[in-house]
Amino acid sequence: MLPEASLVHGAGAGTGARTGTSPVGASAASSLSSTGRAWGKVILLGEHAVVYGVPALAVGIDLGARASAVRGGGAKSTLEVPGWGVSVSEGDGGTDLARAWTAIVVAARQDSRAVLSAGPVVLTGHAELPPGGGLGCSAALGVAIARALVPGMTSEEAAGLAMSWERVFHGNPSGIDAAVAAHGGSILYEKGSPMQSVPLKVSLTVCLGSTGIASSTKTMVDGVARLREKKPELVEKAFSGITSLVRNARLALEAGDLAALGNLMNLNQMILSGLLLSTEEIERLCGTARDDGALGAKLTGAGGGGCVVALAPDAATAEQIVAGWKVAGFTGFSTSVRPTQVTTGHEAQL
Ligand code: MEV
Repeated sequence: MLPEASLVHGAGAGTGARTGTSPVGASAASSLSSTGRAWGKVILLGEHAVVYGVPALAVGIDLGARASAVRGGGAKSTLEVPGWGVSVSEGDGGTDLARAWTAIVVAARQDSRAVLSAGPVVLTGHAELPPGGGLGCSAALGVAIARALVPGMTSEEAAGLAMSWERVFHGNPSGIDAAVAAHGGSILYEKGSPMQSVPLKVSLTVCLGSTGIASSTKTMVDGVARLREKKPELVEKAFSGITSLVRNARLALEAGDLAALGNLMNLNQMILSGLLLSTEEIERLCGTARDDGALGAKLTGAGGGGCVVALAPDAATAEQIVAGWKVAGFTGFSTSVRPTQVTTGHEAQL
């Protein structure tokens, strides 16, 4: 369980508590400490098609991002990401990170609960995931920042605010990454509709193997858009195939039928390859995982690099899969997703 967000005034106050007597920013500038946390995401089925309104299934993983805001002494609000060695200020235009920071600060200011309403902040962000790895690094950081900037938001609101940040990096994202980053658990996401929780009958053990190649979601999404222009029938057929796979995968998840889920993941990988989203490294990671006992394996996220998700029947097989990847020259790890009840309302169960 991860803490979602906390707002603390004054030294020594506990995480998650709202303590102290002064309103935000009313006294000593340094007395504000507002924090936020978010999950990383693994898309089990449905990436890319989800951009065009097809539902997708995804789960949150414990590795994600965290952020904390303190009152700033300067004229502008600043974002520091020590792990990346960067610091950007509101209004800087040079990089996507600077533009995304400006966008989320401007959007957050519209909310009367924002810590920004009492003056500029210095926000420190920590991403526990590699950027470009397909595990929702930017969305996790965006949601963690959103929560630190506006304490007390629902998960739905945090995901919505993070979209102003996400659009800078990814153009016109479907919103699935931000939704999972905010809610965690296992969800069915359909663009424009409220996220639906998918109750898991059994825990999922998933292995994540990295190709070692960062990929750009925007570039990969643009590639599918170009293919769709050139070969609309091929892409529409692919999307209708993915729609059936996702529907069946939802039933498999609810029934705890991991073998069926694995088969559906394999079929989804075939369709994604047909959309030119796979690479030699992805295919090798999938093949090695299946040889080592995975029930199914596919790229997860944008493809073109990034990560592969392999579904393991148990923890011992997961170890074998990760070890097999290491022998093949790749890195990976396994994690489990437990049956969790996720709400679409006020508070996600983090
Ligand atoms: C990226 O994590 C998932 C994509 O479907 C893009 C999106 O949904 O915005 C490739």
